[in-house]
Amino acid sequence: MDSLKDRYTPVVVENEDDLGTNPSSNTPMLELIERRLERRSMMKGFFAMTALGAFGGTITNRSGLAMAAEGETSLTFTQPDHVILDDHQVAPGYRADVLIRWGDRVTAKAPEFDPQAQSPEAQAEQFGYNNDFVAYYPLPYGSGNSEHGLLHVNHEYTSPELMFPGWTFEEQTEAQSLIEMMAHGGSVIEVIKENGQWRIVDDSDFARRITVDTEMEVTGPAAGHDRLKTNYDPTGTRVLGTVNNCAGGKTPWGTVLMAEENFHGYVGGELPADVAAVEGPVHERYGIKADARYPWWKVVDRLDRSKEPNEINRFGWMVEYDPYDPASMPKKRTALGRFKHEGATCIVNGDGRLVVYSGDDERFDYLYKYVSNGTVNVEDRAANDALLDEGTLYVAQFDEDKLTWLPVVFGEGPLTEANGFTSQADVLLETRRAADLLGATPMDRPEDVEPNPVNGRVYMMLTNNTRRTEEQVDAVNPRAENRHGHIVEMVPPGAPDATDHAATEFTWNIFLKGGNPAEAESGAEYGAGTTVWLSSPDNCAFDPKGRLWISTDQGSSQARNDIPDGMYACDVDGSGRAMVKFFYGCPRDAEMCGPEFTPDGRTLFIAPQHPGEGADSTFESPSTRWPDFADNMPPRPAIVVITKEDGGEIGA
Ligand code: FEO
Ligand code: CA
Ligand code: CA
Ligand code: CA
Repeated sequence: MDSLKDRYTPVVVENEDDLGTNPSSNTPMLELIERRLERRSMMKGFFAMTALGAFGGTITNRSGLAMAAEGETSLTFTQPDHVILDDHQVAPGYRADVLIRWGDRVTAKAPEFDPQAQSPEAQAEQFGYNNDFVAYYPLPYGSGNSEHGLLHVNHEYTSPELMFPGWTFEEQTEAQSLIEMMAHGGSVIEVIKENGQWRIVDDSDFARRITVDTEMEVTGPAAGHDRLKTNYDPTGTRVLGTVNNCAGGKTPWGTVLMAEENFHGYVGGELPADVAAVEGPVHERYGIKADARYPWWKVVDRLDRSKEPNEINRFGWMVEYDPYDPASMPKKRTALGRFKHEGATCIVNGDGRLVVYSGDDERFDYLYKYVSNGTVNVEDRAANDALLDEGTLYVAQFDEDKLTWLPVVFGEGPLTEANGFTSQADVLLETRRAADLLGATPMDRPEDVEPNPVNGRVYMMLTNNTRRTEEQVDAVNPRAENRHGHIVEMVPPGAPDATDHAATEFTWNIFLKGGNPAEAESGAEYGAGTTVWLSSPDNCAFDPKGRLWISTDQGSSQARNDIPDGMYACDVDGSGRAMVKFFYGCPRDAEMCGPEFTPDGRTLFIAPQHPGEGADSTFESPSTRWPDFADNMPPRPAIVVITKEDGGEIGA
């Protein structure tokens, strides 16, 4: 039973038991290490606040007492206790209110939630499972309204052992599979702030659920390609649904980007031999296997590789849709590449072009960006439709100080027929192999990658990579057996006044290393004055002052590290740079997703995901029953709204 569960639930250990599927020899050069060490000491002097010397051994967790010299942080809140609790907690003086939970009503058709009487039909109208990306859209479009808007929420994956009474993998029913499919995707709700408190507008015309059954259009260079054609869609341009939508992004014209991340676990069965000869290595590179994480393929023919071997080629893309139009058909934008997209953060470059940053979250996979050909038009929303179809995808190659963006373009460099590519569609379908050939730098699991609108620099959360060896250490991934992850700060030319995000060369430096400095293996660096430590940065957000808010996901290491996942924040400049403070703690066994500020910085929406998803935790006996704490209710992923009791700016 346990072994079956283990096979099924990489969720607790997101990717942790996957080896990573990058077989390329894009390994770092040892000679860089020495230069890195020299460089690191120079950086320390430069910022005068990195920690090993100033700080080594003085950082504390809840059991410690020592304090480093005070940094001058602009964040004024008092930290809550840095401990794991069954309940969530937030800094004193703030409110943390549950807004919507798994199963709550989204559309007007939704019935009340009853965990003992679930159905696919009900779930298709109710709030989905495992909320991840959260995006706020002011009402009306373009208004900048911070007190009335739409919330889009991704539902990344499902945790059936916590959703269904008596669930086992081998006895999963057809209904359970269909409920899981309806619990994936996204939700749109309308929210309004009245008398200082947020509520959902019931039966809003904007309310919508997107599921694994929602019809979508495929656009861009791979649309209509033979490798995307199936029996149910001989055009290769129509696909049902989206899966594993982790983080995402907001376009400047008010649409949602939903990233398809771990899409490999959604089809199963054996590939026909003739197809395997061609597509087999591609499936391997993406980790697509016969014994899928989700058994849906046993009841849904299109997810069975023996029946529809091309179906999975229609996943792993970036999905765009318009939350202001509930009838709009989502589009899979193939120009942004096919990989395990963590998210997709947009910024308008100085010349008006759109730039989108996106990490491929797997051990030893890569960082990408996309630059549109055309320019953004926020006045005429429809005028932007080609921006995500016509442009250039780049992959990142780091050396000692420099970051080079390499075009992932058919016909350039090794991306030719000699290497099996016959078109840009091929290159995009096999984005990872193209990037392998280009010599991209294998990273320690790139999660959120976000440009800071205030200082123009770009911040990449690298969550961890325990499989990196000493020989594989390089300048930008400087630790072997990287348990706690790090944050890289990338500097486009011209930042901050004339930032050129489209440039093909940036500089970079390491902003922060996670981990407990008291542990020798860690060697973490924080700004002076930090009194907590964090592990495994995952998502991030910037408040209106440009301060960095970091959400963490330790996976199964949460219990071992004995610190909660949650929200941490720090300045990015000045003496408070990288001086981390702890702001919000998730309930037990949850990870922190979705940080999103309203434009005025007075509301922070967050998404505690998979509360109670610990070892041996079940529907009947979960490790927490957050947020309801009722005996007849399992734990429920939920969106939480944080406001300051005095109505002021978050973090002040
Ligand atoms: Fe779904 Fe990379 O976190
Ligand atoms: Ca996640
Ligand atoms: Ca994530
Ligand atoms: Ca993660």
